[in-house]
Formats: sequence, structure tokens, C-alpha cells
Amino acid sequence: MAEAIYPVPAEWAQNALIDEARYQQMYERSIADPDGFWREEGQRIDWIKPFSVVKQTSFHEADFGISWFTDGTLNLSANCLDRHLAERGDAIAILWEPDDPKNPERRITYRELHEAVCRFANLLKARGVKRGERVTIYLPMVPEAAVAMLACARIGAIHSIVFAGFSPDALAGRIQDCDSRIVLTSDEGLRGGKKVPLKANVDEALKACPGVDSVIVLSHTGAGVPMAEGRDIDWASAVAAQPADCPPEEMRAEDPLFILYTSGSTGKPKGVLHTTGGYAVWASMTHEYVFDYRPGQIYWCAADIGWVTGHSYVVYGPLMNGATTVMFEGVPNFPDASRFWQVVDKFQVEIFYGAPTALRALMREGDDFVKKTSRKSLRLLGSVGEPINPEAWSWYHEVVGEGRCPIVDTWWQTETGGAMITPLPGATALKPGSASKPMFGVKPMLLDNEGGVLEGATDGCLVIADSWPGQMRTVWGDHERFFQTYFSTFAGYYFTGDGCRRDEDGYYWITGRIDDVINVSGHRMGTAEIESALVAHHAVAEAAVVGMPHEIKGQGIYAFVTCNAEIEPDEALRKELVQWVRHEIGPIATPDVIQFAPGLPKTRSGKIMRRILRKIGENDFSNLGDTSTLADPSVVDNLIANRPQPA
Ligand code: PRX
Repeated sequence: MAEAIYPVPAEWAQNALIDEARYQQMYERSIADPDGFWREEGQRIDWIKPFSVVKQTSFHEADFGISWFTDGTLNLSANCLDRHLAERGDAIAILWEPDDPKNPERRITYRELHEAVCRFANLLKARGVKRGERVTIYLPMVPEAAVAMLACARIGAIHSIVFAGFSPDALAGRIQDCDSRIVLTSDEGLRGGKKVPLKANVDEALKACPGVDSVIVLSHTGAGVPMAEGRDIDWASAVAAQPADCPPEEMRAEDPLFILYTSGSTGKPKGVLHTTGGYAVWASMTHEYVFDYRPGQIYWCAADIGWVTGHSYVVYGPLMNGATTVMFEGVPNFPDASRFWQVVDKFQVEIFYGAPTALRALMREGDDFVKKTSRKSLRLLGSVGEPINPEAWSWYHEVVGEGRCPIVDTWWQTETGGAMITPLPGATALKPGSASKPMFGVKPMLLDNEGGVLEGATDGCLVIADSWPGQMRTVWGDHERFFQTYFSTFAGYYFTGDGCRRDEDGYYWITGRIDDVINVSGHRMGTAEIESALVAHHAVAEAAVVGMPHEIKGQGIYAFVTCNAEIEPDEALRKELVQWVRHEIGPIATPDVIQFAPGLPKTRSGKIMRRILRKIGENDFSNLGDTSTLADPSVVDNLIANRPQPA
């Protein structure tokens, strides 16, 4: 089947920062001479003390280590704020759009943001927060969330943002894991007109976190929330009492910047740790080149700051580059399915970066919601978080972008800090569904299951052959787990966990996770996490969770549940378990299907054969493979006969 190819539009080829020839030349240099390449790119940052060493990295067990720009010092908040004050102090840094369009937007200049960050940084210091200490942020999409991040960076504290849709249990686990004694939150969040009880969630979580002695509470909706004497403080009044100047701390390049928890194939979520210098260079460089960004352009990344995309492409990347970054509190379909495009018109957004799951949901609502808006300001579109199916790509391109905006489909991960495989709008002809070509300094390779290197057009396991500056440096508190998770499957390579195809033009096509991680609406989840939530319920003896194809979410959650002997499973229990998982993890983990199973397909040694469960989840019974090694092959027939149809 011939694939559609969209050549680079002529005006992009002429005017973009990077055209095809330049991409080739820069890419080849970045691989052949990483030291020289990054020594130059490193100059995009204001260093306090310039670095002399560029790259000290090895993925091999004997001398394993990742360190970039090691002897340089810098402050990332100064790179996002102070450096812009002289020239663009009165330019808008953050354009904030509230959940409810009837409420006013906020326009915050670089100068105002600088002052807010300084005051908040002083407040953190006044609460005793020291360099290297962890600050947990559990806030909705409000400018104060960016203020809090930058204030941590200013004083050298490590922020750990927990997505405001996570449950009290999930929040507690993350607070405990990084030993945080301070939590930043708001009275409530607002999403799609619905209130989210953030402060109440914190209160609940803190029952299990005796180490927390400070909670700074932003009044956002104005709901009266109980305040614990001595522990809870009101954000606005505490900040007002602080001086408006706070000198930035001089941080070493490898000092930690943030922790962000993400799901893996085993056990509890791991704290991905990013450090300062390399991340700064990477986030700034990728933001500039991928979006062909020039100061003054209005740029909107619709991700939540609870995910890495919000870190790198709502806050750090754009602000380092002096951008006007749009921050949106709401959801794509509230008050109706025009909302994204109304905000585009309102702020005259030129660059829009969103997730396929939202596009698929909007596509289903029909073209009228799009067509009744202008969108003339748009010149570039982006996609992130999951594979974008060609239908959604075409709709995005034809209907949203009216055929004139290139789409940058950016493949990357929490671990990679920024875009790794992506088109550049002035350099790369587009193939719908392909993340296309590697970013500078990224050497993707495809391996077979035994670690053999595959050449040419082929399918394989996606690994990266060498380090790049934005790479995570460790799993918080568990360096051994870092090595084991990413560098032990294929010795000497960073293993992404993704499967991938490379075509005859050298384009990469991500085919999805090949480990026990699923991607639900672009949210990454470990099947093991959902299983342990299920088995924590008194009625459940055993659970196995797999992904299933889902039209809007990309993947849905399919749970096989075996109940304890005395339990008679029924519809009421099914509903209860759905609520239970929402309560244990959060609404993003809501199971789409729960199938009660008297038994799960296991080998004689007791290992669950997930391959078979995945097939049943996919409603594809044609190719179950060899079931003869099962202890009891009849359980498979039972599962097939009783497969419920998703609602
Ligand atoms: O499977 C890939 C998928 O999302 C995973 C990373 O998830 P997370 O760490 O939450 O980061 C998401 C935002 C960067 C990857 O292993 N993924 C991400 N972007 C794409 C993608 N799959 C296909 N195409 C993409 N553009």
C-alpha cells in the first residue's frame, strides 16, 4: 500500500530555521562529533560558570554513568526569566485560559512572572526549604503551578509534580517515595465545569505522610477548605509578605531539577530524575527546532503540567526561548467541542501541540465545531503521547490545519526529557503516522529479541545507542533499578520499551509498547499497578490487566478478575471494582471492561500467559498460538465464551 507523503511546503523550506540540507548536516555532525556539536548548542544557555567538559557517558555496566556539561553552573529559573527582562520584560510569558470561558483570562508578563517566582521562592525558603529538598506540587493548570516549578528551580529545590487527577493514595505514595515534607496545592481544581477536591485529597493523603509539615494552599475556586493549624498556610497572604527579589542559586549542571513519577512494567511508579544543565539545553533546543520557534510567537501546548510534556513544552522549553506560552485549565469538549479552536482564535495561536486522543474525540463530534472557528493564525501543528492513526492525522491536517500546517508527530518519553524522533517542519517530508527522523544527537536502532542489530527496512525493539543531554539520570532512590530497567535488556543500549518499524526511507514508525505498559489516552500506565489495586479489594483473589483497542483512547483497560471462593460476582461488584480502581489510582485508570474469570490461563509453573489475555482483550480469537503448555487449556474457552462486550 502506497503511503501518502506530504513534502515540505515551499515557504517552510525557505524560511524555517532548519531546512533539509541543514538537518542532514547538523544531524551527521551531532553523531560524528557530539562533543563539538553540544559545545556549540550548549551556548544557548546562560551559564554562571561555563562548562569545559561536554559529555561523559557510558551505557555499559562496567563504567555506567551519564553526565553532561559537568563542570558548568547555571540556574534554570534565571534562564527562563531574568535573561529576558531587559529585552522582553513586558512581553507576555504566560497566557492563561480558564476552564470556564465566562471567566477572565490572565496575561502575565516576564517581569510579573519573575516577581511572582521570586516571592514564592522566598516563601519556600521561609518555610525552611533547602537546596536538594523535594517539593511536591499537586496543583491544577494555573499559572501558580509554573510559578511553583520555577521557584523550586530558583532555590535549587527538586519539584515533584503529581498530576491533579491522581487519587489521595497515589499522591501519598509519591510523597513518601521522595520524602517530601512540603506540599503545594489549591482548594479545588476545575475541569470541564466539574470541581476536583484537591485540598481534601491532600488531607486524605497526608494521613499516611506524617513527615509533611507544610501545605501551601492556593485559593482558586474560593471554596472554603479546612486549614490545619500550624501546617497549612494561605498562598496569597504568605506570598504578599515576602520580598520581591530572590537571587538565583548557582546550581551544578548535574544537580537534580525535578522528579516525575511514571509507570513501568513492574511494581510501583518510578521517580524519573532529570538534572539541570543537560535538560536545559535539550528542552530549549528541541522546543526551538521542532516548533521552529521565534520569540514573540504565540505557542500552545495543551498538555497538563502533571506530565513531562507540560514540564518541557508548557514551561521550561518555551520560557527559556522567550515564548508566549498558553496555559489552558480546561478540557477540549467544554463547553463544547469548539473550545480548542476558540482559544486558538482568541489568542491568535500560531503553534498548537496536542494529543491524538483529544483529536479523535473531537473528530467524532463532526467538522462543524472546527469549521465555525477561523484558525487562520495557525501555522504549525504538533502531536504527542501516542501513535497518531492516519485518519486522525488527516483530519488534523485537512480540517483543523486546512492543509496548510505541517504536523510534527513527536515521539519521546518521560525518560527522554524532550522530543527524540520527530519531523522538523522545514526539513522533513511528512508521512501520516510516522514520527519520522531522529533529533540531533539521537541514534535510534532496531534490535531483534536477542539483541541482534537489524539494518534497513524492518521491525524491531527501539533502542537508543548513545546518551543525549536530556536523558534521565536515575530512578529516585534506586540507581540499580535505573540500570536494570533501561540498560540490562540490551547491553550497551538504552531500551525504550517501544516496538518500531523503519521503512525504506529511514522513517521510524512507533508501533507501541512491547512491555506491560499501556497507553490510555496518552497516559502511561503499568498493568501491574492496576492489578495491585484490584487485588487490594477484599473480593478479589487474582487479577490480570491488558490493553484493548479503543477508538478514542487509543488503548482501553481490560481487567480479568478472579474472585475469592465465597464471592458470587455480579453487576454490583463489577461497578464497585471500577469505582475502587478509580479511588485507588485515579479516574485515568478506570477499567473499560472487567471480566470475571473463574481461572486465568497459566503455565504449569503458574505464570499467567498474557499473550492469550491480550488476544481476548483484542476480541481476536483466531490466533491464540500454542495453548498446550497451559495447566488447564479449558480456561481459555471459558474466557472466550464469557467475554463481555464493552459498553
Ligand atoms: O509508547 C510511546 C508513547 O508514549 C510513551 C511514553 O509515555 P510518557 O513517558 O508518558 O511520555 C509521553 C509524552 C512524551 C512512549 O514510550 N509515545 C509518546 N509519543 C509518541 C508515542 N508513541 C507514538 N508516537 C508518538 N509521537
